[in-house]
Amino acid sequence: MVDNLTVVSVDDNAVNLLLIEALTKNLGLEVKSFLSAREALKYLETGKSDIILTDYMMPDMHGLDFLKQVRSAYSDIPMVMITAVTDDNQLKIDALESGATEFLNKPLNPVEFKARLINLANLRRAQLLLQDRALLLEEEVRKATKLITEREHEGLFVIGRASDYKDPETGLHLKRVAFYSALILRGLGASVKELEIMFHAAPLHDVGKIGIPDNILLKPGRYTPEEFEIMKRHPEIGYEMLKDANSPYLRSGAEIALNHHEKFDGSGYPRGIAGEEIPLGGRIVTVADVFDALTTKRPYKDAWSIDVAVNLLQTEKGKHFDANIVGIFEKNLTAVKEIYQIQHPENITFEMFIKNRS
Ligand SMILES: [Fe+2]
Ligand SMILES: [Fe+2]
Repeated sequence: MVDNLTVVSVDDNAVNLLLIEALTKNLGLEVKSFLSAREALKYLETGKSDIILTDYMMPDMHGLDFLKQVRSAYSDIPMVMITAVTDDNQLKIDALESGATEFLNKPLNPVEFKARLINLANLRRAQLLLQDRALLLEEEVRKATKLITEREHEGLFVIGRASDYKDPETGLHLKRVAFYSALILRGLGASVKELEIMFHAAPLHDVGKIGIPDNILLKPGRYTPEEFEIMKRHPEIGYEMLKDANSPYLRSGAEIALNHHEKFDGSGYPRGIAGEEIPLGGRIVTVADVFDALTTKRPYKDAWSIDVAVNLLQTEKGKHFDANIVGIFEKNLTAVKEIYQIQHPENITFEMFIKNRS
């Protein structure tokens, strides 16, 4: 809503000032009158103002300087310079360059004054309405973007679940891997945006299991060497599924899927790459994924205690795992234990996770 407009009027001549005040009030506008430009500037620091009327010959400050100062603080407010009738076009050019919107001649013609002020008041109301609408639209866009992002995140998690659905692992495993991975990345000094991508990409690590035949994926006992060779294809299948996506989450997920079974000493699969050749995301998720598998109950094993699992990480430093990443994981053991104990990690969003640890 546009409320009542306030006109700021500056003139060192008290009679002129009174006349302007009377004419302006007649139009239903509020008026603040000032005998000096400096006083008016002081008022404008905090006071409301929608239209400015100024004399140009004033003892304390030239009208042009006054216009310039106001214009630098308020880019769109309509400003009128009131000059004596003059042929001095240069003065008018200077006034325009200093930010004047309009001119009025002295002595004031009440009809002309009224017409000019009504136009400027309409202009100002339109400006304010536009600002209101812009703010409103901004808020709408913000809400819509938030909704779309939430849906994208939900979609990502469902893709991860698809692979997990057949597997004995559950959505809880994926959520904890997301937490552990983001925690490690945070320990490496990554930005919130990078953490957010990791949080949503890590659960995609096993998405390629969708492409593994059920008789192998769901086999209860040990794999034969041939079956294991087929199982070992899931990183590349996941990578192929995700690699051409535009979404940074999916692209990062592709890299993580491809590399989460590589080992630091080069003895992993599918490529057998070693050390920092293995992309960072892969090295991180490997630690998170193995740690969670160890510390939770699976059909083929009991849950290991955190201490025993951390011991294994330590003995595998430089072999299965990147020693630096294991070090960061150990440094954050308090947070690791918190994540381990979360009863319903599926209900915890990235925003909640970040808020709790910043
Ligand atoms: Fe895997
Ligand atoms: Fe996993």
